Amino acid sequence: MEKEEIIKLYKEKIKRYTYNNFLYFEKSTQEISDAEFDALKKEILKLEKDYAFLKHKDSPSKNVGFKPSKNFKKVLHKVPMLSLANAFSEEDLKNFEKKIFNFLDQKQDKILEYSAEPKIDGISASLTYKKGKFIQGLSRGDGKQGEDITSNLLTIKDIPKFITSKDFPKEIDIRGEVFIKNSDFKKIKDNFANPRNAASGSLRQKNPSDTKKIPLKFIAYTYGYEKGLEVSTQSEFLGKLKKWGFKINPQNKVISGIKDLMSNYKDIENKREELDFDIDGIVYKINNLSVQKRLGNVANAPRWAIAHKFSANKSISKILNIDIQVGRTGALTPVAKIKPVKIGGVVVSNATLHNEDEIVRKDIRVGDTVTIERAGDVIPHVVSVDKDKRAKDIKKFVFPTKCPCGFKTVKEFNKITKKFDAVRRCPDRGFDCDKMAIEKLKHFVSKEAFNIDGLGKKIVEQFWELKLIKLPQDIFSLDYSKIEKLDGWGKLSVANLRYSINEKKIIPLEKFIYSLGIRHIGLENAKLISKHLKKLSNLINLSKKNNFQELLNVDGIGETQINSIKNFFSNDTNLTVLDELGKILTIRNQIETKKTGLLSNKTFMLTGKLDGMSRAEAKSLIELNSGSIVSNISKKLDFLIAGQKPTKRKVDMALALNVKVLSQEEWNKLLKKT
Ligand code: IVH
Repeated sequence: MEKEEIIKLYKEKIKRYTYNNFLYFEKSTQEISDAEFDALKKEILKLEKDYAFLKHKDSPSKNVGFKPSKNFKKVLHKVPMLSLANAFSEEDLKNFEKKIFNFLDQKQDKILEYSAEPKIDGISASLTYKKGKFIQGLSRGDGKQGEDITSNLLTIKDIPKFITSKDFPKEIDIRGEVFIKNSDFKKIKDNFANPRNAASGSLRQKNPSDTKKIPLKFIAYTYGYEKGLEVSTQSEFLGKLKKWGFKINPQNKVISGIKDLMSNYKDIENKREELDFDIDGIVYKINNLSVQKRLGNVANAPRWAIAHKFSANKSISKILNIDIQVGRTGALTPVAKIKPVKIGGVVVSNATLHNEDEIVRKDIRVGDTVTIERAGDVIPHVVSVDKDKRAKDIKKFVFPTKCPCGFKTVKEFNKITKKFDAVRRCPDRGFDCDKMAIEKLKHFVSKEAFNIDGLGKKIVEQFWELKLIKLPQDIFSLDYSKIEKLDGWGKLSVANLRYSINEKKIIPLEKFIYSLGIRHIGLENAKLISKHLKKLSNLINLSKKNNFQELLNVDGIGETQINSIKNFFSNDTNLTVLDELGKILTIRNQIETKKTGLLSNKTFMLTGKLDGMSRAEAKSLIELNSGSIVSNISKKLDFLIAGQKPTKRKVDMALALNVKVLSQEEWNKLLKKT
């Protein structure tokens, strides 16, 4: 071919390419198929490769055909993107099943069917399709709100842009993992620590043409919001995904019972090295979707799924010493100081030994040669001891029975497992134990709590040593003239600290409750309590009347949490702290969210045993439909649900007050209207 002819051909192709690009990205239509479009791009790139003189500003080698998003817009997920609880052992899996059986009020001897899916270690994304067209892609973000990374996702070949199958839902969010193959990672590894970071970095590029440079892959595995999806099991859904043109993990399997889950786990763990992408475990999901629906979610993870994690990188080192650390909740954690070793590119010099039982069980001693493991973001831990390398004169480690504060420690008895806890604790006596007090203060100012800038862990420790703070309220009356004279402080830094402390004097109720550091009351539980009680005064009233049982009505709050709250309020120092903070702070009441469910504004009370349903599931169903549960019968109560063997007194009282008493059947009918 003559040079001119080549240029002509090239220009024609560029013109066609630009036109189709314009149609797709600006007009949201298509005249040629994805495959034809890809072929066209390939032809242009080949021409450029063969003839160096060919160049064009609109060439696919120069751009990806659409404007980069300047900054990522935040968008709410219609259905939140949840995370998964982790399991590390067969025991953990058994516990997971036990909870399911309890929730479903079923005998423990049934064999459950799971969809077992290798867990790719990448970045999750949610792709919205309307009428078969990919219209928006979001990152996970905080699970509730993600970033609009549509442009970057559009560059991923594995993501179908149009789906014409008849059974493809009218609207659906397809969710899955964006990742990079290990072989592709090798080519760019100088810029990133691992394939996951490379995928994440690439997905969040401001310029999609940068994203395009890295060959990202997409594997689909679940859905969020949907209208018109007709499937009854997860495995059926995975089959449909494949049919619709998504890539799914070829190692997905349907497996029944824990025994077979374990053998599959071992098989896949052994094959792990041969795969061209990183997997960090296997996700198990109850296969039956209506059972999934019944189980619902607890906090931000489903009750019907769990991630069975693989062990990660290991290294050998030597224990130099064993320190005992006291946590915020009084747990005594033994920490091995080890000869520094590099594990997975990170230098490790501390490894947790978990608890006293673990030390006894593994017979770990100072001076021992040990295997250390570091998995993801989890704290490194000691896996095993090489007893052949042990010197003869090494003595057994004696675990202290007293906390460094001098108080006698205890091992709690767990009513559910009927065993003594493996963890030894300094009993929570408010701020009496110095070690716990410091940890409580650190928690109080931490990111999820008061989030006070410039008051990090080290500074809390320093201020505590200097007796500048002893209790949380002291933070709001710091002696700034004293601080200004400390090493490393000056007028400006003190002014900044004062500013960031004052700024945090207004705080939402849920954060306030969380910041108190009550054991078992993490952020999610604090939110649940705050939603239920709405005002701090209501919490204080519960304490005055010693009526914490009312909180049992909150889905997610059980005896363990209630006992812990009781213990908190039984301590005088805690009461003073609450009182003092109440004077200094403005605690914002919980904002009411509009309830639109079928049972909105309706109150319920339960008595007796429901057929085939645990109390937890009933609570969860009522809350899901915007109803609320109360524990006292009054005129204000709308419905008393009476199961088998109801408390006669409650039924009589309800009838006397004209409260409607529902049988389980009647209650079911009420729910069916949803
Ligand atoms: S299902 C509601 N399935 O694991 C269940 N997740 O810790 C949540 N992941 O954020 C998602 N493979 O990034 C699901 N087959 C799979 C998965 C998977 C990997 C990731 C995902 C999620 C995280 C949960």
